[in-house]
Amino acid sequence: MAHRVVRTVPALRRAVMQWRTAGERIALVPTMGALHAGHLALVRAARRRARRVVVSIFVNPTQFAPHEDFGSYPRTLAADLAALAELPVDLVWAPSAEVMYPAGFASRIVPEGPAAAGLEDRFRPHFFAGVATVVGKLLIQCTPDFAMFGEKDYQQLKVVTRLARDLDLPAKIIGIPTVREQDGLALSSRNGYLNPVERAAAPTLHRVLVRCAGEIARGQLLARVLDEGGAEIERAGFVLDYLEARHADTLQPIAARKDGPIRLLVAARIGKTRLIDNIAVSSGRMAKRAQHRIG
Ligand code: PAJ
Repeated sequence: MAHRVVRTVPALRRAVMQWRTAGERIALVPTMGALHAGHLALVRAARRRARRVVVSIFVNPTQFAPHEDFGSYPRTLAADLAALAELPVDLVWAPSAEVMYPAGFASRIVPEGPAAAGLEDRFRPHFFAGVATVVGKLLIQCTPDFAMFGEKDYQQLKVVTRLARDLDLPAKIIGIPTVREQDGLALSSRNGYLNPVERAAAPTLHRVLVRCAGEIARGQLLARVLDEGGAEIERAGFVLDYLEARHADTLQPIAARKDGPIRLLVAARIGKTRLIDNIAVSSGRMAKRAQHRIG
């Protein structure tokens, strides 16, 4: 089925109003296009929650710094629409930059809390204000009951969850587990930038996260585990931006396992590509149970 592509706010509002009048629930999947199986998992999860699914495709200029890849970010609308045609999607919301940010646009949402906890914010200081502003607008434009976000961008998920709560936006934010390649590499629209040598090194990130999470769950010292993990990532050819243990909800720094639940988060650059990933550290009891099963 070819989908209806909507390009103006009034046209989007008319469609949403019809569904609301019919008592149908709506789920939104915000994306920047270049869709892969991770995005499609969000779409399927959206459809499990709601009768109507809207996918937004908008490469948001305000979340890129001037030196970043806004210009070269993959724009593949025809392929994206073809991929979505296979799925239960009701509407594709694809505004132009002029529709999203008309002449004279002068307001921004500047998130704090998890957005100001370092990690991505330290290396991309413009990023979360750009994300919060566009996601705030998308949630207001579309007024969904649910909005789906990937755990792949874990800090973004926490920022958006906080945003919806703080601004009383009625959407419930749903986090979806990361979809990975066979070798563990998290699917990303930026993986296409990797040359074959870089692609071969890329699964190191997930492998190191899995190992570090296991060692921390078994009680090894956080600082030492992370130091060794970081060194392995650098040996694989990356420049490490960070490999950190944070509180899984607040994203505040954490010094010991007992202060958890813990999330490990990593960002590293290889060639001209910057990759991020993260993983949960299972709580003591779960780790013991897992060990028991293996043993
Ligand atoms: P984008 O990178 O296109 O990602 C859209 C959504 O897909 C995000 O919620 C992201 O976390 C999720 N996603 C990406 N890779 C995934 C994977 N391997 N498994 C599961 N989910 C995955 O994130 C953005 O766009 C933008 O910042 C946006 C929220 C649209 C605002 O512009």
